[in-house]
Amino acid sequence: MRPGTLQLPALPPLSLYVHLPWCLKKCPYCDFNSHERRAGVDAAAQQARYMEALLADLEASLPLVWGRQVHSVFIGGGTPSLFEPEMIDRLIAGVRARLPLAPACEVTLEANPGTFERARFAAFRAAGVTRLSIGVQSFDDGHLKAIGRVHDGAQARAAVEEAARSFDTFNLDLMYALPGQTLAELEQDVRTALAFGPPHLSIYHLTIEPNTVFAKFPPRVPEEDVAWDMLDRVTALTADAGLARYEVSAYARAGHRCQHNLNYWQFGDYLGIGAGAHGKLSFAHRIVRQQRHRQPELYMDKALAGDAVAQAREVARRDLPFEYMLNALRLKEGFTLQDYLEKTGLPPSSIGAQLQEAEQAGWLARDGAWIRPTARGFDFLSDLQALFLPED
Ligand SMILES: C[S@@+](CC[C@H](N)C(=O)[O-])C[C@H]1O[C@@H](n2cnc3c(N)ncnc32)[C@H](O)[C@@H]1O
Ligand code: SF4
Repeated sequence: MRPGTLQLPALPPLSLYVHLPWCLKKCPYCDFNSHERRAGVDAAAQQARYMEALLADLEASLPLVWGRQVHSVFIGGGTPSLFEPEMIDRLIAGVRARLPLAPACEVTLEANPGTFERARFAAFRAAGVTRLSIGVQSFDDGHLKAIGRVHDGAQARAAVEEAARSFDTFNLDLMYALPGQTLAELEQDVRTALAFGPPHLSIYHLTIEPNTVFAKFPPRVPEEDVAWDMLDRVTALTADAGLARYEVSAYARAGHRCQHNLNYWQFGDYLGIGAGAHGKLSFAHRIVRQQRHRQPELYMDKALAGDAVAQAREVARRDLPFEYMLNALRLKEGFTLQDYLEKTGLPPSSIGAQLQEAEQAGWLARDGAWIRPTARGFDFLSDLQALFLPED
């Protein structure tokens, strides 16, 4: 490797992301790397081969993370709960055999309602999963149908009850501004979610992503001012229930913030294995981004041949301020200049003018060493982040 141009005083915490790419059915709004399983495929054989590919991918990546401890693991998708618990057990054991996991390492698994039953939950837990993230989206049968989900409200409720019974900590994903949704209906969804006492909630504004069925056939979604009212209601209801909004879309009880996502937002490092997975890894003089082959079949062939990485590029020095801010400004607590220096290797003077402009606009405020987005800054987050884009 050529010498890089950065001087990182230390390497940031490291996480592991594992992508499991299959779903029962592709949702019309989804632009994640998820694929419907083809009819006639032997699911057990496919899962076993995929696990082998993941461990081969991890093995080949080890030289890039030698000696580093892993602080969190996130098994995401796709629909990871479609995998048999024995496969998840094989995965977590394989990871543990190859990488040192920090004591009390958070291990999250994404689960969809309707893809598991009680015994599976216990088995996921026994396999080493410490936290479940359930893709509820809504509890309303009509809205679930409108967004093409395969589960109904009763299955969503059953899944949450089971998670609450089996796990010390768990998350529910909800979406709002769904086709035809009223403010009262959104309120009902949030109240239903809160009635289960979830330690963590993620609530996303439904976005119409390019190259999805919804982009081609756009549904009628609530007007923007209604969506803003919905967000205000979400923030108020969650606060009343003791959940603090610590990131744009994330609400948690004390002690239940998602360590894995926090590491992304704090511009930490992550190794990403699995089809289409992204990674960001720091070295003494450079920061590298990687992406794996996206198509599951191609990924398996390539990973088993020791060649899972489709693209690797060094992050240019000029792009680092924006990349850091894209993440750090999503956090309510913001960041410190010391952290900026440690994670990017750049001096605080590299963002002095932009910080001043953002403070003058009322988007950022200082509190001791911390620089945090104001409520107004959160409302204008993309404009705030754009201040840190490199000049042409
Ligand atoms: C990686 S997805 C997968 C989780 C799981 N397969 C599921 O769908 O239930 C994680 C979350 O992103 C959110 N999400 C996905 N597509 C979205 C979109 N177009 N707009 C807003 N949120 C979206 C959903 O809340 C989803 O639960
Ligand atoms: S279940 Fe989740 S990952 Fe799969 S298609 Fe639907 S939104 Fe995407």
